Amino acid sequence: MPTSLVTGGAGFIGSHLVERLLLRGDHVRVLDNFSSGHAANLAPWRRSIELIEGDLRDPAALARATAGVELVFHQAALPLVQQSVDDPAITNAVNVDGTLQLLLAARGAGVRRVVVASSAAVYGDDQQLPKHEELPIQPLSPYAVSKLATEQYACVFARLYPLEAVALRYFNVFGPRQDPRSPYSGVIARFCAAARTGAEVTIFGDGSQSRDFVAVADVVHANLLAGDAPAANAQVINIARGERTSLLDLVRLLEDLTARPLPVRFAPARSGDILHSLATIDRARVLLGFAPQVSLREGLRLTLEA
Ligand code: UD1
Repeated sequence: MPTSLVTGGAGFIGSHLVERLLLRGDHVRVLDNFSSGHAANLAPWRRSIELIEGDLRDPAALARATAGVELVFHQAALPLVQQSVDDPAITNAVNVDGTLQLLLAARGAGVRRVVVASSAAVYGDDQQLPKHEELPIQPLSPYAVSKLATEQYACVFARLYPLEAVALRYFNVFGPRQDPRSPYSGVIARFCAAARTGAEVTIFGDGSQSRDFVAVADVVHANLLAGDAPAANAQVINIARGERTSLLDLVRLLEDLTARPLPVRFAPARSGDILHSLATIDRARVLLGFAPQVSLREGLRLTLEA
């Protein structure tokens, strides 16, 4: 039974990865410092996994976490854009230095492949749509810089050393267990939480802005494919659904699914907000054999039920 390590395994995407890796029969180890992850996310599988409470900045924790591991899924990071603007140094220490230390530990432990999580944030607000991986990147925050460094370090390690690595650029991921309480939570987590109780939602702007929303189950599926696909080594790959949906359409879908109106309050657009985001997922199709399985409607239904 191969051992897979999920860093950030107590987080939203990480905990879904843990669940799927266990289902396919992997021995699963989690490294998490619970800075934004929650023990409750792992509660159903707590007895089936090895949990190391530790930090990416601690070489001893990384050595323990990577020992005997074949595959690493690196989801741990400081995820908040605003926090990175307020304190770039800590974002750099965790996301950039932490990733470098993890890659070094993985190399030292003889890990076969590391799959790292990057973000569509690296594209900045370039108006060109859809976003493909060859577009010029334009990080607009220290967070985006840290994700760019994450993917570049992964690819450089794959070229220089006998350690395979793949970087996945996630678009707007949504699904059960995404924390709706933070002011920086994804729009779907917030709108689903409101739709469950009939509470009002706030749309920043006129609601015509659109995003390429991808269900967490599809992101997990892409990670599993990226763990094995030979052609994906040293590549950066968009992970999205390849379709965009406006916030107004999102509200309509939620109203339809819950069979009741979702009250909307309109507020001024957020500064720095981009208008539209859409990915081409051709590279994921070709290199990973990835095709999204979960429609937005089905993904929303699952999120509402959770
Ligand atoms: C996402 C990432 C962010 C990253 C950015 C660039 C999340 C949570 N955020 O932001 O880290 O820097 O991509 O790739 O994934 N909105 C409302 N009402 C709300 C919440 C949001 O109208 O209650 C609007 C926002 O103003 C925005 C849209 O919904 O126009 C989507 O917001 P959000 O889910 O935060 O994602 P991004 O802005 O795409």
